Amino acid sequence: MNFQKRIEELKKERNAVILVHNYQLPEVQDIGDFTGDSLGLSIEASKTTADVIVFCGVYFMAETAKILSPHKTVLIPDATSGCPMADMITADQLRELKAKHPKAKVMCYVNTSAEVKAECDYCCTSANAEIMLNEAFNDDDEIIFVPDKYLASYSANKTGRKVIFWNGYCKSHLKILPEHIQKQKELHPNAITMAHPECLSSVTQMVDEVLSTSGMLKYVNKSKANEFIVGTEVGMLHPLQKANPQKKFYAASDIAVCPNMKKITLEKVIRSLEDMRDEVILSEEIISKAQKSIFRMINIGNNIVENKAEVKI
Ligand code: 13P
Ligand code: SF4
Repeated sequence: MNFQKRIEELKKERNAVILVHNYQLPEVQDIGDFTGDSLGLSIEASKTTADVIVFCGVYFMAETAKILSPHKTVLIPDATSGCPMADMITADQLRELKAKHPKAKVMCYVNTSAEVKAECDYCCTSANAEIMLNEAFNDDDEIIFVPDKYLASYSANKTGRKVIFWNGYCKSHLKILPEHIQKQKELHPNAITMAHPECLSSVTQMVDEVLSTSGMLKYVNKSKANEFIVGTEVGMLHPLQKANPQKKFYAASDIAVCPNMKKITLEKVIRSLEDMRDEVILSEEIISKAQKSIFRMINIGNNIVENKAEVKI
């Protein structure tokens, strides 16, 4: 069977759009109607006119699409694709933390469950965490920032804000060590070094640029440099190379792999559209509570970042 052809047929039949994260398998990225980072995918999910969204990413991303498009059918081709970092904080744990800091406002990284988002005032992604810290809070606000302690500490240092951390982290990004960057730098002395803010602080401190996945793509597209050391999940090399065939990219560490991001295959996308599974279901209450934190992010962060989102709180 020609998988691409079958997917095109099914997309028409179901009036479906396929959203794909930058870490997905190359062949899955290549069939996406939109490929991007968490922020770009959230915005796309809020704007699409399709009846069905097939989300090729991890579960919290598909939930975010459902929160932003509650009247659409959101399918994830492998419902076991979780994000271990998102699973590091539950809504109960966040409620306990809030009870300890009753005056604090809460910002959650988009890598959280819908239940956790429903407990938050603001959401952010790695592309706009600094903007959100600067724009969403008053100077004297106490801020809880969950769950990624590395993104929280990086953005807190950049903005000079004090935040209350949670002990969450991404196991895949923590595989990238300073010595890996150093070694690649010795091998490719003219290369620009880039790292995702989920990396260790010792890594983000030593690189030229700290960027979200689509931030990396935008940076490379504009850069006059020809070589880049890429400090994030290895799937990112595909969109970088595809958009810049003449430039060279080196993974900071080949073992920085997110196994959950690799579970979705073309066969599973076909099965998902044929059988309309697995559908992301959320209660109306969770959707309406979680929407507030995401809409606030899109309205604040996105007005400053780039594309204009057509959503209102
Ligand atoms: P981006 O928003 O930068 O794509 O990151 C999402 C993610 O899960 C990184 O590990
Ligand atoms: Fe979650 Fe890390 Fe995978 Fe991103 S790379 S989805 S943070 S486990």
